[in-house]
Amino acid sequence: MRLDQFIATSSPLSRKEARRAIHAGKAEVNGDIWKDTGKHVPAGARVLLEGEALTPKGERYLMLNKPSGVVSATRDSEHPTALDLLPGELARDLHIAGRLDADTTGLLLLTTDGQWSHRVTSPKVNCPKTYRASLSSALSESAIEALRTGVTLRNDPVPTKPAQVNILKPDLIELTITEGRYHQVKRMLAAVGSHVETLHRHSIGDIILDPALEPGAYRELTKQEIASIG
Ligand code: URA
Repeated sequence: MRLDQFIATSSPLSRKEARRAIHAGKAEVNGDIWKDTGKHVPAGARVLLEGEALTPKGERYLMLNKPSGVVSATRDSEHPTALDLLPGELARDLHIAGRLDADTTGLLLLTTDGQWSHRVTSPKVNCPKTYRASLSSALSESAIEALRTGVTLRNDPVPTKPAQVNILKPDLIELTITEGRYHQVKRMLAAVGSHVETLHRHSIGDIILDPALEPGAYRELTKQEIASIG
């Protein structure tokens, strides 16, 4: 789509106002100022108008409070999936931006926007994800320090990136990581001699699970929440 059309369909500006804004250097595409009103915006590009990210029309962005026992997949022959919790029309073409294990609860993001979900999950972007983990026993000081600096996971020679650890109770911690390796939180805790009993994702970047959402409930993301990723 042309840049002036993109801006006119995803902001309050008319096509004429969009052209004026573009000529004035107020439009940015993937980090560069574009002054050519007719230049084509590539699919999934990040477009800013006066520094504010624009959401391409027609894309959908949702948060879901995932209950335990639901799998983070679009289809599964044996178990209920996250998409089964949504009405059919809303679920169409959605994919999950950052999966959770079946027994993990909490914040799951779903979208039709592949570029946006890439920014959520790409290890290059370092989008922080915060989990609450209840543990079989309290962590030692040395275990906490190891999680903060990076630990070596079983069957993975590359140490984890530094994580933030917040002790809420002796056996309840908040762990913030910027990667998304397979079973990462459980494996990090196992690497320091502990065991995760329950795991709940509280936030992804600045998007915090809405406390009004009961397990299984969902809502659309706000414009600010969508723009906060990236
Ligand atoms: N880390 C895990 O071990 N499990 C999850 O579901 C998410 C992160």
